[in-house]
Order: sequence, then structure tokens, then C-alpha cells
Amino acid sequence: MSRKGKVTVVGAGFYGSTTAQRLAEYDVFETVVLTDVVDGKAEGLALDLNQSRAVEGFETQVIGQTTGQSGEGYEAIQGSDIVVITAGLPRKPGMSRMDLIETNARIMRSVAENIAKHAPDSVIINVANPLDEMTALAQIVTGFPKHRILGQAGMLDTARFTNFVAEQLQVPVGSVTTLTLGSHGDTMVPVPSSCNVDGKPLSDLLSAEEIEELVTRTRNGGAEVVALLKTGSAYYAPSAAAARMARSVIEDSGEVMPVCAWVEGEHGISGVYLGVEAEIGREGVRRIVATDLTESELAGLREAAEAVRAKQEDVKEL
Ligand code: LAC
Repeated sequence: MSRKGKVTVVGAGFYGSTTAQRLAEYDVFETVVLTDVVDGKAEGLALDLNQSRAVEGFETQVIGQTTGQSGEGYEAIQGSDIVVITAGLPRKPGMSRMDLIETNARIMRSVAENIAKHAPDSVIINVANPLDEMTALAQIVTGFPKHRILGQAGMLDTARFTNFVAEQLQVPVGSVTTLTLGSHGDTMVPVPSSCNVDGKPLSDLLSAEEIEELVTRTRNGGAEVVALLKTGSAYYAPSAAAARMARSVIEDSGEVMPVCAWVEGEHGISGVYLGVEAEIGREGVRRIVATDLTESELAGLREAAEAVRAKQEDVKEL
């Protein structure tokens, strides 16, 4: 098997370390770099992951690197094809993702500056919250072409929606197709008209009330986990989603995924990072795929765009 490329995961919390684990276990990358500001944490986790290789049967080399406040250690990410940014605080119970905006904007600025310096040709996948705003900030700080910066949210929200539908109907998750667009927050737009089970429309299988309940649970999917964990937020499903996006980039797969991407005209929306369907390849976003939407879904997406646009203006000042 030929392995190629270097992917960096910034931040070795649960989200970052599980993302690094999934990326390493795919066994398609030459190198996975994991960084963190806590002294020795990334090195320790990398050592541990490398020691799992003989059992799990993968050859990808994991490198851990502590980074300093002034960018020390960032040389390790030199030449990365992809950088996944997980650095930032997670929510505490009762917090909205938006409550993290000031702290995470400070962290994002410093991380993004170092990525621009040491991995200027990389595709960035941001997962830090508030997702759409931090993705926009990563682009502003790095100045990278907009198609090379994307955010992970739609894959996760869609995975949650799919899981809820599969559990409700007692069918395999593999038979369920769902879709969520919009923001990774209050203005998330689940798209029931694009949902089906083995090709049968969801509306033939569940009542409008039942669909609405699953839509609401999906919108609150992250908060439900935060409330149960009490410290920290979800990471298994989020890391699965982020790692899949990174894989799609390195394999230049052309897969269509719901992601946070720069929208310029599609769905009649322009000039904003927003959750939409996009074809993913080596250059990041190849093109936005403007899915057919009902009137009310389109209205929801436009409302999400305006909410995110206002906040994305604010992050420029943070
Ligand atoms: C979630 C966080 C990671 O939705 O945004 O779980």
C-alpha cells in the first residue's frame, strides 16, 4: 500500500487526539503530526499511538510536538498537506458555542498565523467553535484562497440525524441518508426533503411531528452530549467526521459532503462561510453543490447565512 502526504492536527485534546488516531489508523498518510501547547502531551500521545501500530496493523508515523506561545515547535508542521485545527475551548454544560467566540478567536489567530508561516500550501479543516465564525477567521488570518479553508460540521450533524432516524425506525444506519445545512448552531438547517431510507422519503415513514422531534434533537445534538459528559464536549462522532474530510482531501476523492464552505452565489447567498454540500478534493472545495431545497428549507438557509454573516463581521475585530 502506498502512503502519501502529511496531515497535522493542532490541539491534542480528546477531539484532536481521536482525530489523529483515526487518521493514523486509515493507514493512507505517510505522517500524522499532533501538536499541543501542554508540554509533552502531544509527544506522549504520539508515542502511545505509534506503539499501537503493531497491533492495529498500520505504518503511518505519528509525530508529537509541543508548541510554545511564540510559535516555537511549529517547524514540525512544515510541508503539511492538510491541517486540522481543533485548538480551542470546548463548551461547558449550559453554554452555547457562541459563548466561546472571544477566547477561541484569540487561540485561532495565533494558530492560523503559524499555519500560514509553516504550511502555506495546506488545506485547513477547522473544527473549533463557533464553527462558521472560526472558519471565517482562519481564512482572514491566513489569507489562503477561500476554497482551501473549510469547516467540519455538516458531516457531524448529518451523522447525528442519521443515527436518530435509524434508531427511531430500527433500521441499519447504512440504509439512511440525511442532510443538514446552515450553521453549526441555532440556525442549523436539517433538510428532511433530502432524507430517505433505502430510497423511501422520510415523510412516508415518519409523521411530521416525529421528524420535527428528530430535527430538534439533531440541532441540540452537541449540547445533549455536553450535558451528559459535564466536562468537555463530544469527540467520537466529531473526529470521525473531521478525519473523513481530511481523507477525502488527500485522496482527491471528489466526494460530495456537507461542510462549512465559502458560498459565492449558490442558493442566492454570497460572501459567507456556511454549511452547504460541496465536492471535496486535493484543493479543498472543488465546487459547491446547490442541493434542491423546499421554500422553507431555503428560507432557513438564508436566515442562517444572515446570522453567520453578522457574527463573521464581528470576528474581524476579535
Ligand atoms: C459538537 C461540537 C464539537 O457539536 O461542536 O459536538
